Amino acid sequence: NLVAQIERLEKLFTIETPKLKEITDHFVNELTRGLSVEGGTIPMNPTWVMSFPNGYETGTFLALDMGGTNLRVCEITLTEQKSEFDIIQSKYRMPEELKTGDADELWDYIADCLHQFIDTHHGDNEKLEKLPLGFTFSYPATQDYIDSGVLQRWTKGFDIDGVEGQNVVPMFEAALKRRGVPIKLAALINDTTGTLIASAYTDTKMKIGCIFGTGCNAAYMEDCGSIPKLAHMNLPPDTPMAINCEWGAFDNEHKVLPITPYDKTIDELSPRPGQQAFEKMIAGLYLGELFRLVLVDLHQNKDVHIFAGQDVSRLMKPYSLDSSFLSAIEEDSFENLAETLDLFQSKLALSPSHQELELIRRTAELIGTRAARLSACGVAAISKKKGYKTCHVGADGSVFNKYPHFKARGAQALREILDWPEKKNPDEEDPIEILAAEDGSGVGAALIAALTLKRVKEGN
Ligand code: BG6
Ligand code: GLC
Repeated sequence: NLVAQIERLEKLFTIETPKLKEITDHFVNELTRGLSVEGGTIPMNPTWVMSFPNGYETGTFLALDMGGTNLRVCEITLTEQKSEFDIIQSKYRMPEELKTGDADELWDYIADCLHQFIDTHHGDNEKLEKLPLGFTFSYPATQDYIDSGVLQRWTKGFDIDGVEGQNVVPMFEAALKRRGVPIKLAALINDTTGTLIASAYTDTKMKIGCIFGTGCNAAYMEDCGSIPKLAHMNLPPDTPMAINCEWGAFDNEHKVLPITPYDKTIDELSPRPGQQAFEKMIAGLYLGELFRLVLVDLHQNKDVHIFAGQDVSRLMKPYSLDSSFLSAIEEDSFENLAETLDLFQSKLALSPSHQELELIRRTAELIGTRAARLSACGVAAISKKKGYKTCHVGADGSVFNKYPHFKARGAQALREILDWPEKKNPDEEDPIEILAAEDGSGVGAALIAALTLKRVKEGN
């Protein structure tokens, strides 16, 4: 019976090459639709980041990163040396309660962290007033200017009243003012845009910036001539404009994505049902929960009834398993899955049989593989849209950096989608390589602040 279940799960979660190609083709159309006047499901937000760095930017900047998992404050000095910088930084925990709490509490907490950082590193307020801040706010925002952003909707499990539909910058600045912190925000940035710019700073082949972490998204440089929704600005058609795709929203209509009953449950029980369909199949926030839902289903299924006679109360708790739990299972190299057994005993007070352990391992593999293969569809879609035959893609985030085999599985899927011939030797570069990015919300934010100030100075 367990074997039959494994086969059922394999059918549900495996995405073969033709389907990957179909998803990619639909993705290309949706990227274009997002840039149109009518708009589409993928927001394709213009970011007002309008050039790549040349490596010779200089100056000292503050950067604040509110990504969803951590809060980070940095001071970055871009030095005279080409593509070199110094950084000091502090990390703060983002308390779980804040994510579904009150707006003032959120802004006050962020302002407090920034205050604490500058108290430690700066006595001198006068100097501080001259330090421009790049604020990496990694949620979909409509930007009419680079120093403003109206939150379209919360993602990544955030659910705070009174912020959606509002410009977040005045809220943040008011909290700073209440503390007498004389900081001026120069740019509001998405983490993908930061990643794109930071990566291009050290490697000019970098054309796409991606995050595969708590959330999943990408940014790339478009020409204004291909952005009909900006036509009213009368910008020269060859003017570059970084686009924060917000591709997590791809296929919210479920036209091509092979949605399983587990994906439906994740969506229905999330604070924003119907949103972020693509992200909910890929991002770190959801991988552990998908896995948990499969196990709960197999426990409740009378034919298989895994963990029979055991106390499953811990397993029944939503979001009790994060993606690091899945990573650990996929990392278990013992033939008898001894580490997985340990993990189940210590974390869930469950003792799976050997057959159950095999099912558990296969389930983790299926969920992790599907995430990596779907991610490749997004990268392939941007590359196809832009006609990039060869380039580098800078990627960051906990899933990309820590999830076992994510990179290799993604690279394999890209190879299938784009019909590349087999490599002649294993060291050969793929035409499009997804590589670890430079620090987007640190050096990327500083660079964007520097590029913005330069643009303002030049009157563009
Ligand atoms: C960090 C980047 O390394 O990765 C952030 O500096 C980004 O800008 C983050 O938001 C995403 O990863 P995670 O796993 O924290 O969501
Ligand atoms: C979510 C956010 C997006 C961010 C991504 C990665 O998709 O909406 O803005 O870039 O997570 O952090």
